[in-house]
Amino acid sequence: MTADRTEGERLTELAKRRGYYFGSSEAYGGTAGFYTYGPQGAALKSNVEDAWRERFTVQEGNLEIDAPTIMPEPVFEASGHLDTFDDMLVECPECAESHRADHLIEDNSDLEDAETLSLEEAAEEIAALDLVCPNCGAELAGQSVDNFNLMFETNIGPGSSDPGYLRPETAQGIFVEFPRIKEYARNRLPFGVTQVGRAYRNEISPRKSIVRTREFTQAELEQFIDPERDEPDLSAVEDVEVLLYPATEQQKDDGDYIETTIGAAVEDGSIGNAWLGYFLGIAQEWYERVGVDMDRFRFRQHLAGERAHYSSDCWDAESEVDGDWIEIAGFSYRSDYDLSKHAEYSEEDYTVFRQYDEPKTVERAVVDPDMSVLGPKFGGAAGDVKDALERLAERDPDAFDGDEVTVEVDGETHTVETDVTNFAVEEQTINGEHITPHVVEPSFGVDRTVYTLLAHAYEEDEVDDEERTYLSLSPEVAPRDVGVFPLVSNVPELVDLADEIVDDLRAAGLSVVYDDSGSIGRRYRRQDEVGTPFCITVDRDGLESDGETTVTVRERDSGRQVRVPVSALADELGAVRGGDRTFDDLAAEYDELTDD
Ligand code: GAP
Repeated sequence: MTADRTEGERLTELAKRRGYYFGSSEAYGGTAGFYTYGPQGAALKSNVEDAWRERFTVQEGNLEIDAPTIMPEPVFEASGHLDTFDDMLVECPECAESHRADHLIEDNSDLEDAETLSLEEAAEEIAALDLVCPNCGAELAGQSVDNFNLMFETNIGPGSSDPGYLRPETAQGIFVEFPRIKEYARNRLPFGVTQVGRAYRNEISPRKSIVRTREFTQAELEQFIDPERDEPDLSAVEDVEVLLYPATEQQKDDGDYIETTIGAAVEDGSIGNAWLGYFLGIAQEWYERVGVDMDRFRFRQHLAGERAHYSSDCWDAESEVDGDWIEIAGFSYRSDYDLSKHAEYSEEDYTVFRQYDEPKTVERAVVDPDMSVLGPKFGGAAGDVKDALERLAERDPDAFDGDEVTVEVDGETHTVETDVTNFAVEEQTINGEHITPHVVEPSFGVDRTVYTLLAHAYEEDEVDDEERTYLSLSPEVAPRDVGVFPLVSNVPELVDLADEIVDDLRAAGLSVVYDDSGSIGRRYRRQDEVGTPFCITVDRDGLESDGETTVTVRERDSGRQVRVPVSALADELGAVRGGDRTFDDLAAEYDELTDD
C-alpha cells in the first residue's frame, strides 16, 4: 500500500490521474497558484456548491446575487482592502524568491500564530530561528519583512486612469449593492444575501495544491441584522455538539479544546454572539452531511491580532489533513463596518428604517437662522454657515448656550450671535429611526471543502486479495451517481438493456457513466477510485428472472449487492442521492446477493 506517502501526496497523484484537478497551463510551464478542475473535480465542486446553496440560500430563505469579479478602486478604498489587505513578505537576498514570513516562522518553530506578529517582530523571529531560504538555502537573517497587498490590480478600459481590482472576497459585491438589495428584501431586517463565485488573491506563496491558490471559489452569506432586535432561531442548533478551541485556551500553555453544545457555548459566552453560534451549528451539520470527517473537524477562534480589519470576532471551521489544520470557512462578526464605510465613501443610503413599536415623543434642537443677517455678513458662504448651524444643533445643542456660536466651513471659523440662529428645543413625534445594519458572515472556501472531502474520503483496503483504493464520497456530492455495466459486451440483449438503463437514469437527472471494457472487477475498481457510490451490472440472471427484469446494484464501500427491478432504479438511486434512502433500506427491500 502507500503508507509512505502523505495524504496530500497521494491525493495530488490521484487527483491528476483520475481527473479531479491539476496545475493549470502546464503546456506553458504552469503558473503557481492556479488549478483546473477536470471532469470529476468540476462535477464534485459543482455538487458541493449546489449542496451549499440548498442549505444556506434555499433553506434559510436568503437572496442570492451574482456580482462582477472586477470592481473599481473606490470600492476597495472604502472597504479598507487597499490599505490593509496585506501579508508579510520576506525576500531572499540571493535568489530573490519571495516567501510569506509568518508561514516560514510557523513551519520552523512551535509558533502557531505568527500572523499576529508585527513586521519588526517577524524579522527578529526569522533571525532568532536562523531561517534560510527554502529555495536556495541563503540566510534570511537581517532581511526586512514588508507588507505585500494581495489584490490583483488591473485597468478598466484602455489607459491607466481607471484602476480596478479583482475582488479578494465575494462579499464586497454584496455590500456595495446593499442600497438596491435592501429594496428587494422590502427593507425588513433580518435578511441574508448569498453569493458563490471566484475570488482572487495574489498569494505570496501558494501551496498545498488547491488549499492556497491565487484564484479560488468562495460561498459567502452576509446576514444583515438589527443588533438590538434580531435573534437567530438558536433552538434549531442548540443541541449540536461542537469541539471549540477558543482564543483564551490557545493562549494558555496547557490550553485545551472545549467539548460542548452550541446552546451551552452561547449561554456561557464561549461563543460571544448568538448569530455566530447559529451559523457554526448549521455549518457543522452541513459539513457532516457532505462528508467531512467529524473526528477531524474543529472550530477555532481567531486571536485578536489575527482578525481581518473588518472583524470584531471570528471563528474558523478547520479540518485536519496530514496532521495540519486547514481553515475551510470563517465566521465573522463584521458589525456595521462595511456598510458604514460604503456610506461614508459613496452618496448612497446604507441604512434601514427601524420602525418603533409605538411612536415616541422626543426633544429636538433646531435652528432657523435669520438669513437677512447671515446673507450680508457671510456672502456666498451664508448657505453653508446655515447648514453647519443646523448640524451643530443636532449634534451639540449645548454649543448654543452662550451669546455667540462658532462653526467651521471649509476650514474657516465663522461666529454668529446666538439670537440670530433662532435656536429652540421642540418636541417631535417620531415613528422610527435609520440604523446601519450589522453583518454576520459565514464565508466558505469551496476548494478547501473539496480538498477536505477528498482527503477524508480516501480509503485503501483489500478486495479479493487485491489492493483497492476508493473514495467514500457522500452520494450527495460524488461526481457520478452510478456506473452501468453490461456483464459482457458481446451479448446484444445485455448491451441494449444497459443502454436503456443509462438513458432512463440520465433522464431522471442522475449522472451516469457507462463502461463495457475490461473485467467487471476492473470496472468496479475504476469507479471505486473516483468515488462513484453505486454500480449496476446487467446480467443474464436479471433478464431471465421471473416477472420483472432485474439488475444488481453494488455499493462502493462495502461491495454488497442487491438485485433491484429495473423499473425501480431511478427512484431508488435518486432517493439515496437525496439522502432519503440508504443502501441498507435497499438491502431490506430487495434480495441481497451473498457474493461480490
Ligand atoms: N469574506 C471573508 C473572507 O474572505 P477569509 O477567511 O479571508 O474571509 C474565507 O476567506 C475562506 O476562503 C477561507 O476560510 C478559505 O476557505 C477560503 N480561502 C481564502 N484564501 C484562499 C486561497 N488563497 N485559496 C483557497 N481558498 C482560500
